[in-house]
Amino acid sequence: MTAPDGGAKPALRDDLLEPEVNHDPYPFFARLREEDPVHYSEAHRGWLVSRYDDVAAALVDPRLSSDRVRPLLEKLPEERRRTAGPVMELISEWMVVTDPPAHTRLRKLATKAFHPRKFVAMEGRIRELVDQSIDEFVASGERDLVAGIAFPLPATVISELIGAPIEDAERFKDWSQDLALVAFGAGGEVRADRHARAEASIEEMLDYFGDLIESERRQPGGGNLIADLVAGDDDDVLSDEEIKGMCALFLFAGHETTTTTITSAVKLLIENPDQMEILRGDPKAAGKTVEEVLRVEGAIKVLHRWVIEDVELRGKRIEAGERVLLLPAAANRDPEKFVDPDRFDITRSPNPHLGFGKGIHACIGAMLARIEMRVAVAAIVERLPGLRFAEPEPTFEWAPSLAARALTTLEVEHDA
Ligand code: HEM
Repeated sequence: MTAPDGGAKPALRDDLLEPEVNHDPYPFFARLREEDPVHYSEAHRGWLVSRYDDVAAALVDPRLSSDRVRPLLEKLPEERRRTAGPVMELISEWMVVTDPPAHTRLRKLATKAFHPRKFVAMEGRIRELVDQSIDEFVASGERDLVAGIAFPLPATVISELIGAPIEDAERFKDWSQDLALVAFGAGGEVRADRHARAEASIEEMLDYFGDLIESERRQPGGGNLIADLVAGDDDDVLSDEEIKGMCALFLFAGHETTTTTITSAVKLLIENPDQMEILRGDPKAAGKTVEEVLRVEGAIKVLHRWVIEDVELRGKRIEAGERVLLLPAAANRDPEKFVDPDRFDITRSPNPHLGFGKGIHACIGAMLARIEMRVAVAAIVERLPGLRFAEPEPTFEWAPSLAARALTTLEVEHDA
């Protein structure tokens, strides 16, 4: 391979967890799209798929299965299965890691609980929660926007939707972090006792959901998410275990992703003062701003699938039993699909990004997330004039993660 300047290009490094790539994956994604859009990665023992059309098609291809936790669970040594057992069992039942017909059933019952009306009705309350955390952020002199504003919001919102008393919102934040520790496998550096503590805390969370379910059964009509899940539909109901699992999934799937996107929105707006100006002049542009953030700095870099029937992709034969890593973060910057794809442009329209996935597993919480993010981003920009990076300019720390694109902190200053 020869570079445009005549020099030899370095070989394509393909480990997404390499610190340099984790910090800024986009040059690597650009090379993948151009040089080897369906690339076998030794590091990940799977196929990296990076072009928009391929990722979009793969997300609706039934030969690519989402059932990816149960096979791992079945391979776990007996000893590990006993310790990780109940939590891994729970995760393996999540609809996000099931295929039809199990997925179809769970999704139908969950959709009933995720009625858009509910979220629209909650917008005022979300605004109140955002205003409250901005008040506290300003009064405390706190600089980290993640800890002060972006992190607390989604867990509080989901705890209220589930029907938990307000004083328990704090516990949801802890549970969510512990859930991430277990669901993401929590790497080697995490000590075993921390892992075990996380599992104990998740057991506590499941008992807590169990109590809410019981109280809904005793006195039906709570009007919250648990009530909808308990009620089921005309032909089917969820078991208590399934309801607990679903609540845990909603907390897990909706927390870090929403936090991250709010944080990335603020980072991108500070880096692009012209776009910040547009938004300050037209707060209604917050919705489109959020879509553009989901495109250029989406919270999910990788979506895993297992091939269950041989497929051919751009001339490459991928066999049943192999793993595919779909890269929405690469697809969303594909120049074949988006003009000037690396440019952050909050007026971009249309913006058919894949930040919420596509097909049967497309994010069920997208509407709720969009409201939370739109309200938060608009309020942050409106209420924190002179918003800028703290001095000295922070070195941005991206969580070392294969799947997630998440800033761990974002230190800012403002003139409020
Ligand atoms: C910015 C915020 C969010 C982003 C970027 C995001 C992204 C995604 C993506 C990419 C998927 C597809 C997964 C796949 O195909 O394997 C997904 C699925 C899902 N999301 Fe979200 N999500 C967000 C917020 C939320 C929220 C707030 C909730 C719930 C409260 C939620 C609940 C779910 C669930 C339950 C699924 C699985 C759906 C299924 O398997 O049918 N998400 N999300």
